[in-house]
Amino acid sequence: MVTDTDLAAAREEARRRDEADSLAALRERFHVPDGALYLDGNSLGPLSADAERTLTRVVEEWRERGIRGWTDADPPWFGYAEHLGERLAPLVGADPEEVVGANSTTVNIHTLVGTFYDECEGTPSILVDDLDFPTDHYAIRAQLRHRGLDPDDHLVVVESRDGRTIAEADIERALDEHDVGLVFLPSVLYRSGQLLDLPRITRAAHEHGSLFGFDLAHSVGVVPHDLSAYGVDFAVWCSYKYLNAGPGAVAGLYVNREHFGTTPALAGWWGHEKETQFDMAMTYTPAHGAGAWQTGTVPMLSAAPLEGALDVLEDAGIEAVREKSVALTDFLVDLVDEHLPECDVGTPRDPARRGGHVAVEHPDAARVSRALKARNVVVDFRRPNVVRVCPAPLYVGYEECVEFVAHLRAVLDDREYERVDARDGRVT
Ligand SMILES: Cc1ncc(COP(=O)(O)O)c(C=O)c1O
Repeated sequence: MVTDTDLAAAREEARRRDEADSLAALRERFHVPDGALYLDGNSLGPLSADAERTLTRVVEEWRERGIRGWTDADPPWFGYAEHLGERLAPLVGADPEEVVGANSTTVNIHTLVGTFYDECEGTPSILVDDLDFPTDHYAIRAQLRHRGLDPDDHLVVVESRDGRTIAEADIERALDEHDVGLVFLPSVLYRSGQLLDLPRITRAAHEHGSLFGFDLAHSVGVVPHDLSAYGVDFAVWCSYKYLNAGPGAVAGLYVNREHFGTTPALAGWWGHEKETQFDMAMTYTPAHGAGAWQTGTVPMLSAAPLEGALDVLEDAGIEAVREKSVALTDFLVDLVDEHLPECDVGTPRDPARRGGHVAVEHPDAARVSRALKARNVVVDFRRPNVVRVCPAPLYVGYEECVEFVAHLRAVLDDREYERVDARDGRVT
């Protein structure tokens, strides 16, 4: 059993690091739910005063200006998605017109995979991996079916060797062995937190004449990207995780400027060339940039919080966020190794190979995470054995990593997870 005294040195070290942390003051800008140890920002980031301010402003603009908000609001709602795109672009290493805030991530996968598959010659396969987030596969399979193709014959699924990570060499081998037209992979695996080598995979895809897209849901806002420099063809991401824009917030997408002018698979009037959108022509003329991949009207109430949320990230700087994220996850991994010997770390130990969260594995992870929740420690469980722990750098510090370990230690020592009620989550 590890006692509180054993963690005393870790606490002291954590305090020292928190005091020296140049991002620590940003925490004040967030409403972290009452008394919670909030370590779930890779699922849903908390509300910031900044996001609340821009949401409230848009609600007021709606109240005071009604429909005139499309032209007279500040910024005008008509170009709001493109405005968000300009602000998101530096986070992914793109030019402003290569990015737009649009749709949901799943819809963006549909439209971008559909668009780029149509650019392939013949009916080649689409390469994915077996640790992907399920929605990616659902959307890709549906796109294949819409083209009259059997997904089982047209998906190349790279299999993990260890159930946690994907080897880039296996992706390269699959590219050698199959006729792959399109590669679509996550930047960071949602369960283990492995960060794939994006430049290497993009290079390999292009050497094989394949187009390449990424799902950046688990990296945008915590890992800097340089998509245009890598030569990535397209990317999608959510805004409700590390971007803290709220539940179901408008998503983001990137299209490399080489592909501007391509007709989107899911064309809609909001992706029409802006200057002539209100001519209401029956034929669709795509907007010049990534904005062409919008479908319907920009969802202002789910887009507005992103504007303020980006203020916080811009004040922090994405490089500083990544630096702190690596330091926090390193610290947490060391603590787990030292104080929780019955748990494994499923996340790569090389910081260059991981995103912003840590997968703490335990054979009874489902009940363990329920017992943690009963202690107001907000983490999540992913089958079969992972407690995901996210020290999000904008509002989590080192001391909270120690607190997490202390709670988990107590849950294991007192076998609280064996006494947690599956229905109401209470420990008896
Ligand atoms: C990798 C990944 N892609 C996509 C999604 C979800 O997409 P959507 O916002 O359309 O629900 C998630 C949600 O957690 C995710 O982790």
